[in-house]
Amino acid sequence: MSAGNKSQGVKQQPMLAQMPIDLAGGLSPPARVLSESAYRQIDREIAKYPADQRQSAVMAALRIAQVEKGYVSPEVEVEIAAYLGMAPMAVHEVTTFYNMYNQSPIGRYKLTVCTNLPCALRDGEKIASYLKAKLGIGLNQTTDDGLFTLQEGECMGACGDSPVMLVNNHRMCSFMSFERIDALLEELKEEAKLNGRA
Ligand code: FES
Repeated sequence: MSAGNKSQGVKQQPMLAQMPIDLAGGLSPPARVLSESAYRQIDREIAKYPADQRQSAVMAALRIAQVEKGYVSPEVEVEIAAYLGMAPMAVHEVTTFYNMYNQSPIGRYKLTVCTNLPCALRDGEKIASYLKAKLGIGLNQTTDDGLFTLQEGECMGACGDSPVMLVNNHRMCSFMSFERIDALLEELKEEAKLNGRA
């Protein structure tokens, strides 16, 4: 995912240390909550835009923070807002608009099933129901072992491959049948075992 590069007519923002922060949510500006590596990655994203449009890197910054933290906490939103010179609420609007951002801790594998019309017409709803039954959870729930979180997603731009689902926002799984789901879940469980997480 990448942020757009539209001119937003914003003024050059002051450096982080001098920046007044809108604390509408009552949160105090945290100490740096991300690793140095994460800030370096965010700086690389910021450098893609004109100096007065560092806010354009907000989606990338949230993605980087989520990869590191597993989800985007209110503290991370405040930190990114300060770093990019935005109001925390503006960052929160981005976090809550796109379902690839997790607002609370989730399972190791987030399974996002597309149930928009083209996928629904080709069994998208059925695979969502199958996953619910197989995992014993509902949408937006996580299995007791912490391995899987299930959620519904909007069109992923791969309607020709329907029904589709995503693993952890990045891995697209096409033409999902019950058999393919079984194989995918086994593969992910095996991977978790190998990494000492199940
Ligand atoms: S409707 Fe599912 S990918 Fe487009």
